[in-house]
Amino acid sequence: VTPDAAWAQEVRELARKRDAVLLAHNYQLPEIQDIADHTGDSLALSRIAADSDASTIVFCGVHFMAETAKILSPDKTVLIPDARAGCSLADSITADQLRAWKAEHPGAVVVSYVNTTADVKAETDICCTSSNAVDVVRSIPEDREVLFLPDQFLGAHVRRETGRDNIHVWAGECHVHAGINGPELADRAAAFPDADLFIHPECGCATSALYLAGEGTVPAEQVKILSTGDMVKAARSTSATSVLVATEVGMLHQLRKAAPEIDFRAVNERASCPYMKMITPAALLRSLRENADEVHVDAETARRARGAVQRMIEIGT
Ligand code: 13P
Ligand code: SF4
Repeated sequence: VTPDAAWAQEVRELARKRDAVLLAHNYQLPEIQDIADHTGDSLALSRIAADSDASTIVFCGVHFMAETAKILSPDKTVLIPDARAGCSLADSITADQLRAWKAEHPGAVVVSYVNTTADVKAETDICCTSSNAVDVVRSIPEDREVLFLPDQFLGAHVRRETGRDNIHVWAGECHVHAGINGPELADRAAAFPDADLFIHPECGCATSALYLAGEGTVPAEQVKILSTGDMVKAARSTSATSVLVATEVGMLHQLRKAAPEIDFRAVNERASCPYMKMITPAALLRSLRENADEVHVDAETARRARGAVQRMIEIGT
């Protein structure tokens, strides 16, 4: 399947016939981002999914995102163009492991990143995304212990930003972001000394970026730790003419659209998420033609998870 005008026309026509809204995460292939009704970060897309009048949601992203939409809208049909599109970070903790961790910390508030399975969300008090993780933790009384999972780098970011020392962090990671490392970032920053650094908090290099700022190698105001949605906002407001981007490479497409005059470069060009890239133009077309792959969440699990997900979409901007 070539993503040409005939493909685009068929996708749009089928979406109309099925009363479907097409959502695409910022890491999707450019042609998928461009055909979608909405492209954004995981928080923005969850909010759009919850508010949409469409009877079908086609989630061009990974499985936990489609599951989150289903938890929020159990009466809608939620499709993902390829149900095998998982997430290494979501796989880094199971519901059994979380139950055992909770038993070690009775009374702690459980904050789970949205990159988790529905079973883990069902054991969670509040979910968060990278754009509101700090606000979510700030909403919890200072004297309560927090279990933050599963991403260790996002957890470290939340600890730094809130200054709290009663946050326990699970040792999970996303293999794509963990692979964007400090030495690589330092090399790129040395080659482009005037560039802003846009760093996703899931990156292994987030601490190194702050270290570079702390020792004065890069001016502190050029170092920005941002979710993918906040990167697009920052692209519109920065005065920099070049930006080094530390996240999954699909992000460059929205950044270049938002600020065509800026030179955006990936810190690591190999940082491509194989799961996000399973959503091909052919897979999207098949999904709309065959009403597949449908995402189901067991009703009891969804009921237990819903409060945590609803709190997530209510907190932060
Ligand atoms: P955000 O879009 O919330 O920044 O998430 C990044 C991510 O890794 C999703 O898989
Ligand atoms: Fe999961 Fe990482 Fe891929 Fe995001 S980039 S979907 S966190 S594996």
